[in-house]
Amino acid sequence: MIRTVVIGLGMGLNYHVPKIIDHPNFELVAVSDVNQEKLALAKEKYNVQGYEDTYKMLITEKPNLAVIASPTQFHAEQAIQAMEMGIDVFLEKPMARDTNEARQIYEVQKRTGRKLMIFQPHRAFTDTITVKGIIDKGILGNIYMIKRTMSCFLIRTSWQAYKKNGGGTLNNHGAHFIDQMLYLSGGKPENVSCELLRVAATGDADDCARIMIKTDSGMLLDIEMNMVSTINLTPWVIHGTRGTAMYTINDEGKPVVRVRYCEPDVELEQQVYHKTGNVSEAAEYPWQIEDFEIKDEYAVNYYDLCYEYYGLGKDPFVPLEDTLAVMEVLEKCHEVTGKY
Ligand SMILES: NC(=O)c1ccc[n+]([C@@H]2O[C@H](COP(=O)([O-])OP(=O)(O)OC[C@H]3O[C@@H](n4cnc5c(N)ncnc54)[C@H](O)[C@@H]3O)[C@@H](O)[C@H]2O)c1
Repeated sequence: MIRTVVIGLGMGLNYHVPKIIDHPNFELVAVSDVNQEKLALAKEKYNVQGYEDTYKMLITEKPNLAVIASPTQFHAEQAIQAMEMGIDVFLEKPMARDTNEARQIYEVQKRTGRKLMIFQPHRAFTDTITVKGIIDKGILGNIYMIKRTMSCFLIRTSWQAYKKNGGGTLNNHGAHFIDQMLYLSGGKPENVSCELLRVAATGDADDCARIMIKTDSGMLLDIEMNMVSTINLTPWVIHGTRGTAMYTINDEGKPVVRVRYCEPDVELEQQVYHKTGNVSEAAEYPWQIEDFEIKDEYAVNYYDLCYEYYGLGKDPFVPLEDTLAVMEVLEKCHEVTGKY
């Protein structure tokens, strides 16, 4: 049993606490929050002991693991404190406010040898698992471009709408999608460009963000995070040298990734293009079409992955170096668009 505490009771109470309680290998020993009402709620719902003072909780309870789900501005201070006290850390995304803080956390992790992983949930989502399966199968050939689009129509009026609070779409969603794309690409970011627009949000922060990353293997990762689209845009398009895949809904109304590709033993002949022009959807060309269903049963229990790392000593599902790369891309985006 891993004796676990949770710090910060927003996402902490809605996601982490129930997951920990439900898991046979974790024991929730206490929670902390600066807000008394949140502590009372945690007590009422889960009968868990609460502390207003996080340091006091760590020193009294001596947990093996601290799950940090406080606002991002406290991540560095709390993660460093816990690791210095000999406690492993599972830290909410984004790792920190900027790369400076992220590197400070990284240095303490190296020096203390404590285990540290950042919660990047999108890696374990069913659509990511489906897309990764298709890429790993090799039927698309070499992947040269992935387009990932997050779209909704949601005019923000909360703290998220203002730059002074670190709000905006890039800050809010960027860490998720940058990590997801780099994970699927298997590469490291080489060139990064970014544009931010404020279209309809009531504040001054962006509600539409576009990031383009070129990886060290030459792959393009094109990310659109659009809070002001009145149509739900296609969330996935994956291009390879032998085929293209796209998210769609099949005839049974189920979400699938549809792949149109050329079998590995069929030669993609140059002269076919010359003879007939565009053959991308031509019936006479030997394209295979296959649907890969995005199944609920692919869903991963993240705390199983945590147990493998914190409990069994396996490699982390999200290596720290990957998260540092995400932080560097975010920093670059801020650099080119004007840091808040
Ligand atoms: N992984 C995800 O999908 C996901 C989703 C939402 C938020 N997050 C991340 O989780 C973190 C928290 O976001 P949230 O949406 O839960 O915010 P929130 O504002 O809903 O909750 C944060 C909680 O932390 C408490 N708090 C404030 N200062 C504290 C301190 N110094 N010590 C302990 N507790 C403190 C607040 O009282 C509040 O209860 C952020 O880093 C955010 O980026 C991740």
